[in-house]
Amino acid sequence: MSNLLDLTSQGDVATISDESKLAQVVLMTPQQLYELWERQPWQSHTIDFTQDREDWAALSDEDKDHIVWFLSSFFIGEERVATQFNGLVGAYESQSEEHFLTTQQVDEARHAQHFNNFYTQVVGYDGSFEQRLDRAREDLNDSFKVLFDDVLVDANRRLLAAPGDIEAKVDFVTTYHMVIEGTLALTGQDTLTRVFEERGILPGFLEGFRRISQDEHRHVAYGTWFLQQKAKDPALARRIQKTLAELIPIAAGVLTPRGYDIGEEYEILGVRSDEVHGFAFQALTRRLKVIGVSLVPAEDEAVPA
Ligand SMILES: [Fe+2]
Ligand SMILES: [Fe+2]
Repeated sequence: MSNLLDLTSQGDVATISDESKLAQVVLMTPQQLYELWERQPWQSHTIDFTQDREDWAALSDEDKDHIVWFLSSFFIGEERVATQFNGLVGAYESQSEEHFLTTQQVDEARHAQHFNNFYTQVVGYDGSFEQRLDRAREDLNDSFKVLFDDVLVDANRRLLAAPGDIEAKVDFVTTYHMVIEGTLALTGQDTLTRVFEERGILPGFLEGFRRISQDEHRHVAYGTWFLQQKAKDPALARRIQKTLAELIPIAAGVLTPRGYDIGEEYEILGVRSDEVHGFAFQALTRRLKVIGVSLVPAEDEAVPA
């Protein structure tokens, strides 16, 4: 009955296609995820961007604009999730969990390094790391700023102030691992990887991006494990549901490109909005089945009309 073998190679439940098995999945523990991290090392600074520079120069201005919009969300996103993670590291409940969480924080720093290298060597943003981040910030939409500068920062502050507060920890992991990583990052990674692979461009970027995606699956696997444990308490399960209900509309806004309203159909880089949002929704609902929380509140909990 266990799908443990699938999880030890992939590190995440989104790859299990048989939905009937989701409720019985045996998730990897923080100790197993720590050991998986030791087996999946990589270096951001040795990636060769020679071909990427040629590919970039050959792209149209419109394609460059769309790609930079996508990538700026990742660049700033990685900076945010690296710097807003220390509250969770201090909120560990076992040695194995602490060790896994320290690996995740260094992973996020490595991801930000990969984007900084790409923006320096391929996109051609001059100046310091901080100046590149400031310039990339100009591409972000308001929903992104609400989620990463307000909601995430506040969740981290609450955890730093009270590391033993399980409600604060559940809120943080729901925000960070379920919404930011599991719903937004993995969707953006799947979309961009397909676009670049189909066009046969930016091999150096893709080399790092595939490694980042492998890391993110491990991170999301931790979040799924943690929330599955906590959701056994009905009050915490309702809390997860309520946080998701608040954040999913904001997440939909993060995925909406410049120049479009939330809910409006779009197509950029050959990818349609229904594909992007459909992937995000399916990935989230699969994980919630494993956790044991539904997205829609049960009727007796629904707010009266
Ligand atoms: Fe990351
Ligand atoms: Fe991550």
